[in-house]
Amino acid sequence: MRIVSGMRPTGKLHLGHYFGVLINWLKLQDEHDCFFFIADWHALTNRYKDTSDLKDNIREMIIDWLSVGIDPQKSTLFIQSGVKEHAELALLFGMFTPKSWLELNPTYKDMKFNLFYQYIRDFLYGKQIKISEEILRDIFFHAFYHKREIDFKYLKNKLLELGIKEDYVRHIVKTISEGDIGKEIDTYGFFGYPVLQAADILIYKAEGVPVGEDQLPHIEITREIARRFNNLYKEVFPEPEAILTETPKLLGTDGRKMSKSYNNAIYLSDDEDTVTQRVMTMKTDPQRIRRTDPGNPEICPVFINHKIFTDEKIVENINLECRTAQIGCVDCKKILAKNINRFLEPIRNKRVEIEKDISEYENVFIEGTKKAREIADVTMKEVRKSMNLYEI
Ligand code: TRP
Ligand code: SF4
Repeated sequence: MRIVSGMRPTGKLHLGHYFGVLINWLKLQDEHDCFFFIADWHALTNRYKDTSDLKDNIREMIIDWLSVGIDPQKSTLFIQSGVKEHAELALLFGMFTPKSWLELNPTYKDMKFNLFYQYIRDFLYGKQIKISEEILRDIFFHAFYHKREIDFKYLKNKLLELGIKEDYVRHIVKTISEGDIGKEIDTYGFFGYPVLQAADILIYKAEGVPVGEDQLPHIEITREIARRFNNLYKEVFPEPEAILTETPKLLGTDGRKMSKSYNNAIYLSDDEDTVTQRVMTMKTDPQRIRRTDPGNPEICPVFINHKIFTDEKIVENINLECRTAQIGCVDCKKILAKNINRFLEPIRNKRVEIEKDISEYENVFIEGTKKAREIADVTMKEVRKSMNLYEI
């Protein structure tokens, strides 16, 4: 089966990326014809202002992928912007992709939603008005979601009901309705994100796309674009399926999902001491205050991570000893740190080897890009022909 997937180069990868994405790629590359690429154009859709770290991020990603065992002997590894045909296909897809498919795309709405929400929250908190995030989110969700436009009337009434001064409410509504918030992503490029993604996938006639759940709407649009193309012109594209895989639950140091933006991540490139320090700052069962208090491992981020990195037998022991206060959190964390370091050890060694001669490994991507381009080229010839375009 032909598999395609991409990742935006937004910085070094952490354990969450490993257990959420890379672990699946490692499996797939043994069984399928895989194309994995660095989606640098997609990174530009919302980070176009300052591109100074783009090259570093790509290099970082190359090293991260190769160090975990993504293997150029098995998979075709390339850089999106090296295959210009993606852009041509995206342009052609844009001709017949209805705006409404993109406007209703939940990913797009999520981004907007978050920006609006953050604005209101920061505004109110700046005025020392403390309203629980939950209530605020709820109101905002109702005013915004499932709708094409924001329901300003609802928003206004709800904020007034909460006792917020009329002046402030008017100010909030005005700022949002004038369209100043989220302006940065109100671009043609960002709006067309799913169209470019569809081109990335369909240009290789992929049948499977390993992605996270958040990407399902994009895969759906990809399928719709494929169908529409096939109906309008000629049967050229298969309808790819998303490949979702159950991933083990991994938490960041603060107990939330591991994410760069929460500053709670452990990176694949962290050294031993950094990992240990990070683990030692991890949140534990908040009810367990004194060493003699029994703990509840099920709600403890340290324990949840033990389930990934620690041998089953020892996990069982910890489970018991935590509940009976036989083990202290410091010792428990030390075990976790040791095991994460044991897991990262071979990855670190490979990294050292790669960094010795990075140009050799960059070459791997250059070769991969050439191979990808050859395949993309064949598809584009077919596309141009079916659309009655010149082949010059
Ligand atoms: N949108 C994806 C993400 O944010 C990245 C991506 C771009 C992608 N093009 C793709 C994923 C094609 C799969 C297939 O994670
Ligand atoms: Fe969490 Fe371990 Fe402390 Fe129990 S002993 S609360 S599992 S860190």
